[in-house]
Amino acid sequence: MDSLNTQFEQLRQSPTVALTDRIAALRAGGRAILPLQVGDPDFGTPPAVREAAMKALEASLTHYTSSRGLPDLRQAAASKLLRDNGLTYDPAGEILVTHGGIHAYYLAMQSILNPGDEVLVPDPAWATHANMVTMLRGGVVRVPAPAENGFIPPMEAWAKALTPHTRAIVINYPSNPTGAYPSREYLSQLQAFAAEHNLWIVSDEVYENLYYANKPASAGAIPGAKERTILVHSLSKTYAMTGWRVGYLAAPAQVIENALKAGQHSITCVAPFVQKAAAFALTDPGVQQAAADMRVAYARRRALVLRLAAEYGSEKVRVTPPMGAFYFFLDFRPLGRPSLEICERLLDEAGVGLVPGSAFGTQGEGFVRMTVAASDAEVEAGFRKIVEWAEGKWVSK
Ligand SMILES: Cc1ncc(COP(=O)(O)O)c(C=O)c1O
Repeated sequence: MDSLNTQFEQLRQSPTVALTDRIAALRAGGRAILPLQVGDPDFGTPPAVREAAMKALEASLTHYTSSRGLPDLRQAAASKLLRDNGLTYDPAGEILVTHGGIHAYYLAMQSILNPGDEVLVPDPAWATHANMVTMLRGGVVRVPAPAENGFIPPMEAWAKALTPHTRAIVINYPSNPTGAYPSREYLSQLQAFAAEHNLWIVSDEVYENLYYANKPASAGAIPGAKERTILVHSLSKTYAMTGWRVGYLAAPAQVIENALKAGQHSITCVAPFVQKAAAFALTDPGVQQAAADMRVAYARRRALVLRLAAEYGSEKVRVTPPMGAFYFFLDFRPLGRPSLEICERLLDEAGVGLVPGSAFGTQGEGFVRMTVAASDAEVEAGFRKIVEWAEGKWVSK
């Protein structure tokens, strides 16, 4: 049999997959690699969250449960949205528990897209934002978010990308990979644009708690925005819970009803003991403090990189302070080489794992994503190697 879903032919194989395989092979061969490619907190999940899961396991919460999610987790998500974002969502009909942020995004797109609908996705952006639309037989229209505009699409770029088939706008602030996020005023203009053209705004806010100065505004916090806004949330990044696979969608009830059906027929439910732990994580004050402590650690490493960058003053690799998330998007454009080649060479010659900016779109070419979700020592050693390699001072060993 060779009849397959041809839609997958359109999915670009991520260059990061090949790099990840290469990192694994080098490690298997005994080579120490500085892991600055990861998008996963280097911290353990707070112990109290693990205890909450263990208690739930001991209480035999190990069976199927509601596809909508346990009422206490939906209530916890609603309380969190009110506490942190000033948003009011009804836990009975406007919140759906999902298998992480990626599944929340999948269900959102399942809920709103018809085949052939077009979705506006900034460039650069996390690869899944475009690939999911393609998998669902939608059309992806990339909207340039150039470095020169702080990696935010100029308002006129949205208008230029619009066609009669446009159904939705996807945004993700703070952004993976750039860490950028726009002002509330910009979000307000974007919401007005969406209202004028009857578009959904799907806002992936999984990095909302990782910011370095002012807290970014939620796209849902603009007056009148709620009826067209779909919020994608996850516990993965904020609480160092990437492997637990739990997140949630907050959206108008009719979006949730479709998403609920899509969830029912794809995963049935999220593991109930995981949901219990998630409800605890979202509401327990001690866990909020643990999340704040992690943010302080990322900020310390960010400051460390900025200090080193100032010390080196390299013209070959330019460093812009990220506003949020836990990445630097290093500007290697002065080298004039493809970012994949730069990452391959930094891996082979200097033993540093990184992600090429081209994995996030054409606007990412010439940039390289480096995480600060690694120990201070790894971040320092890795960044030193990166700059010294760029300056031609690194001798491969
Ligand atoms: C922008 C963005 N959204 C969503 C996710 C998905 O996270 P999860 O499915 O673990 O919640 C990621 C993970 O890297 C991400 O970078």
